[in-house]
Amino acid sequence: MKKDSLTVAVVGATGAVGREIVEIFPQREFPVSELRLFSSPRSEGKTIEFKGGEITVRTVKPGCFKGADIAIFSAGASNSRKYAQQAVDEGAVVIDNSSAFRMDDDIPLVVPEINGHMLDAIPPRRIIANPNCTTAILAMALKPLHDLSRVKNVIATSFQSVSGAGAQGMVELERQIKNWPDSGQADVFPSPIMLNVIPQIDVFTDNLYTKEEMKIHNEAAKILEADIRVSTTAVRVPVMRAHSISVSVETEEPVSPDRTSEAMDAFPGLRVTPGGYPMPVDCSGRDDCFVGRIRRDLTGENRICFWVVGDQLKKGAALNSVQIAEQIVLRHA
Ligand code: A2P
Repeated sequence: MKKDSLTVAVVGATGAVGREIVEIFPQREFPVSELRLFSSPRSEGKTIEFKGGEITVRTVKPGCFKGADIAIFSAGASNSRKYAQQAVDEGAVVIDNSSAFRMDDDIPLVVPEINGHMLDAIPPRRIIANPNCTTAILAMALKPLHDLSRVKNVIATSFQSVSGAGAQGMVELERQIKNWPDSGQADVFPSPIMLNVIPQIDVFTDNLYTKEEMKIHNEAAKILEADIRVSTTAVRVPVMRAHSISVSVETEEPVSPDRTSEAMDAFPGLRVTPGGYPMPVDCSGRDDCFVGRIRRDLTGENRICFWVVGDQLKKGAALNSVQIAEQIVLRHA
């Protein structure tokens, strides 16, 4: 791996997160000298602009990762299970945006500002997992509070935008807006999302939480390296981009709203919106996550409430995976 000249593969390059990754590389001056883009056969042959040129999208084939230093996967868990090992065997370090490996004990689950130390060594399996988008945004806000006093449990409601379901989620909302009131059938979401909120993201599990809600529970504890319980109701809302989360946190000791606010504002990648509150329309396309409505929870001395918003295509996915790549280069190239 050469610090200033990397060969990088993006699998899922035509998707909502993949496209964002390709845009973020030049914005952050990530030293890509060769970029290989992969999609499903549906998009094979399409071109994507990169640094003033056009790159033709290909499908994954044996040998396609040979010579790649880093491969970023954002094509869903089944494709990660199918192809990530191939990328490793062909010599790449894999950064995986899917849920395929996140909870494996020997795979680090990384938000660089929180647990970047996990990248001090490249893990033996050479795969690093990127968290669920809502989890990453929530964990960004929990970490400074956790550093003040151990977080014991979290009760949260997430308001998740349609792009969290991928490019097709945005297409579905756009179509329903255009055709309203004859919005037609829902394909991506379980019900029409236009003028609606849907308290179901992904399928239900045996305990009546959804898979999305259980990802937040499991992954937050892993990232914060603590026995934290997170009970979330994950709700899909008719917002194009950026997820919002209403959060109530119990800490071991009481922490004042002022100290919470100071600690959050000082945390890299997190900003407290002065005197107000952030909203998805203001946070779309932004790298930072934003917090507002910080207050003492009326139900207990040791509880703090707040509202956090982050662009889930950025910090929740593409930006975080490029930040992981940056840390790998910084530490290992
Ligand atoms: P395609 O655009 O050809 O369907 P999103 O999460 O926005 O839906 O994006 C999913 C991404 O994963 C898309 O780029 C999609 O390509 C890609 N993808 C789906 N199946 C495969 C596959 N078998 N190999 C590589 N990429 C795939």
